[in-house]
Amino acid sequence: MRIGVPRETAPGEHRVGLVPESVARLKKSGVEVRVERGAGIPAFCSDDAYTAAGAELVGDPAAIFGDCDVIVKVQKPTLAESDQCRSEAILISLLPAATSPDIVERLTTRRVTSLALERVPRITRAQSMDILSSQATIAGYKAVLIGASHTPKIMPMLTTAAGNIPPAKAFVIGAGVAGLMAIATARRLGASVSGFDIRAAAREQVLSLGASFVGPEPVSDAEAAGGYARAQTEDERAKTMAALASHLKDQDLVITTAQIPGKPAPRLITAEMVGTMKPGAVIVDLAAETGGNCELTVPGEIRDVNGVHIIGAVNVAATIPFHASVMFSKNVLTLLTHMIKDGSITINLEDEIVGPMCLTHAGQARV
Ligand code: NAI
Repeated sequence: MRIGVPRETAPGEHRVGLVPESVARLKKSGVEVRVERGAGIPAFCSDDAYTAAGAELVGDPAAIFGDCDVIVKVQKPTLAESDQCRSEAILISLLPAATSPDIVERLTTRRVTSLALERVPRITRAQSMDILSSQATIAGYKAVLIGASHTPKIMPMLTTAAGNIPPAKAFVIGAGVAGLMAIATARRLGASVSGFDIRAAAREQVLSLGASFVGPEPVSDAEAAGGYARAQTEDERAKTMAALASHLKDQDLVITTAQIPGKPAPRLITAEMVGTMKPGAVIVDLAAETGGNCELTVPGEIRDVNGVHIIGAVNVAATIPFHASVMFSKNVLTLLTHMIKDGSITINLEDEIVGPMCLTHAGQARV
């Protein structure tokens, strides 16, 4: 069996599907690995490192897509790449079905089995395969660094001969995986940190990281299946908005991460609220790709609204390509190890991990 790793072609995507360390592990389990020359360079994984790990390097991506049993990629394939996949090949990558009907259709027609990494079930057994968590951890960390670098202030409190400086105020909205990492990172930088989420478990986690919790007390039924949040009722939303409006006025750095699976991100910061914020304040909107938590967010852009910078952060994990790739690769390696027996891979649709991830198989779409 041969696994192939192509070079990522999406703009700004600097991660790679498998790093050399994972290649070496796969080789030890009797699997051949073929890597497109230069695939790891943006993630600081050299061709030499892949060769030393036992990979075969090739120059033509067609030798990956058209001649490997399993293809591991970060971003979804293009239509041209989908066309190159041979029948019965297994593709493992991010693959957002709702926004990629053409790719799903093409993979179905070509009888490719596709496993969408964002569909890894959020169960304890699959935690080590959960790329949503690993990449959100990286994004939460980087969001604070991006925000801190845009504020005209330093984060920590200082008592110096040149005067006393109070700590900057950082506020994290949405305390899931990315939000908790943002809280921890802002605390390490010395900011005075507060957080908000609608789930009761998140409230405890915010407090355990040494941040204060603002906003209304979470209601007990705010958590839906898989530990995710459900959308708020109108009444709950009104209470949230009132609490956020009074807290935001005073903040230097706001990181927003609130998401509802399968729905547009909740709008939590209105243009009016931005108007009450201090010039120099920064909002880093990690929900930009799903519509943004701030009404004024433009994905991929930095806006200056009367001195408040609103950063529509997209694909943030790819901006820390080395460690994002190391974690992504470890998640994929664990998934592959789960499916490979005696050097060959089987797709068991009854499996509680593989079944939900499988988007196309044997000519059928499973959206
Ligand atoms: P996510 O990216 O879907 O959402 C981020 C956060 O936004 C969540 O904490 C959510 O409660 C919050 N949120 C939604 N609407 C909001 C609103 N109106 N105001 C404020 N906050 C709002 O979720 P993420 O970070 O991917 O994971 C959420 C939870 O899923 C985790 O905290 C955990 O409980 C569970 N989980 C379980 C795993 C497992 O068991 N393998 C792995 C990872 C997460």
